[in-house]
Amino acid sequence: MDEKIIIFDTTLRDGEQCPGASLNINEKIEIARQLAVLGVDIIEAGFPVSSPGDFESVKRVAKEVKGPSICGLARAIEKDIDAAYNAVKYSKHPRIHVFLATSSIHMKYKLKKAEDEILKLAVAAVKYAKNRCGDIEFSPEDASRTDRDFLYKVVEQVIEAGAKTVNIPDTVGYSTPFEFADIIKGIRENVPNVDRAIISVHCHNDLGLGVANSLAAVLNGARQVECTINGLGERAGNASLEEIVMTIRTRNDIFRNIGTGINTKEIFKTSRLVSKLTGMMVQSNKAIIGANAFAHESGIHQDGVLKERITYEIMRPEDVGVTETKMVLGKHSGRHAFKERLKSLGFTLKESQIEEAFNRFKVLADKKKEIFDEDLETIIDEGISKIPEDLKLKHFHIESADNMKPSATVQVNYKGKLYDSTSDGDGPIDACFKAIDKIVRVGGKLLDYQVKSVTGGKDALGEVSVRISSKRGVVSGRGASTDIIEASIKAYVNAVNKLLHKK
Ligand code: KIV
Ligand code: ZN
Repeated sequence: MDEKIIIFDTTLRDGEQCPGASLNINEKIEIARQLAVLGVDIIEAGFPVSSPGDFESVKRVAKEVKGPSICGLARAIEKDIDAAYNAVKYSKHPRIHVFLATSSIHMKYKLKKAEDEILKLAVAAVKYAKNRCGDIEFSPEDASRTDRDFLYKVVEQVIEAGAKTVNIPDTVGYSTPFEFADIIKGIRENVPNVDRAIISVHCHNDLGLGVANSLAAVLNGARQVECTINGLGERAGNASLEEIVMTIRTRNDIFRNIGTGINTKEIFKTSRLVSKLTGMMVQSNKAIIGANAFAHESGIHQDGVLKERITYEIMRPEDVGVTETKMVLGKHSGRHAFKERLKSLGFTLKESQIEEAFNRFKVLADKKKEIFDEDLETIIDEGISKIPEDLKLKHFHIESADNMKPSATVQVNYKGKLYDSTSDGDGPIDACFKAIDKIVRVGGKLLDYQVKSVTGGKDALGEVSVRISSKRGVVSGRGASTDIIEASIKAYVNAVNKLLHKK
């Protein structure tokens, strides 16, 4: 790599501005430590003047997290700059990030100031900050909607005042790749002292173009990208770190001789940590780190990947820290993936048996979204090995009302003998399962319970699926009836019979 793109992570500042994603100090430290392991160059840890809690967390990150520069955000106001400096000064590489809006919209409605006043404030703020800290970044907020000539003037003068990095934000996610590339190109061509600073970009995702705009800027000379894990951030979020990094890496034919210092194998772990601590779920189809990013369901795709991965995968899952490609078995899956999964489960079947099992699998896949390994075992057990029915339901009786704990009595035939058993439970179904457990002591724990109607109308046939685990393993069971409780007991009995014969 000849040229390095500096990765400036703002998950803890702009990312935390995402509605509903606030973090406490310890959570911020945990994320910052993981960002250091991931290999980001700069961590923007917060906006110190905004609250005592934010000040404290930036300070602790600066004290405790080694490796990356630690940066604090400040408006172009002395008290903000002082607070930012007092929080980041504990880092070996402290940075202050000063911002001031420059677009006519912001100057007129928000700041109520003219261009020359803004220019003076920006220069004065950078000089003030520079007296405290060697590493100053300046952002002309809403740069993408700023008059071009005024933007060039601001960039030139803040560099003159000592800014080492000038960040060009697309604050409201309004720009498009061609336009944003042209803004960066314009700065490089029209600002005489531009070579004395790094040009950075900070793109919001309001039109879903945050990553595209950032990458267009990189191709036009930007050398720092501000981004967040999982694309968190104000409103629709910021450009996502994982997408920026993996695009530069995967398309090195386009991003020639350009790279980042990110240890990509840490991406998935970092994404999970941020999602867990912020409580912001990652959508399944999110690029790079979504649950489906390396999952294939279509039979044609599965067949292709099994023959040669690169047919349908442009990155190796292990390169982003995902353990393996996932073949989702569902109604679009084909024989190839089905056979491979059976093989990995240890079944060696004749072609005719596979064919029969595949037909049963397709019938089930039409009813159920995803087919789990235990479902496949059921298909094989029921169709080929035929599990003996040691346990059979004879009768059941439920007592349930809104002012009593439900209880159930079941009568079963177990290994040729009739047994009656009674139990109470959290609900009538739980009571039935507990009554059965008293007779057949397999020690099963219910992992999953699903009910759905197979037919329509008032007399719909309900089908219940259960998954239970015990020391003998995990099994699934199914039962159908127009009575949901009966369907549930049958499903449980079916699963218990499998546990009794599980090797
Ligand atoms: O979006 C924005 O303009 C910002 C600045 C503070 C850089 O977050
Ligand atoms: Zn922002």
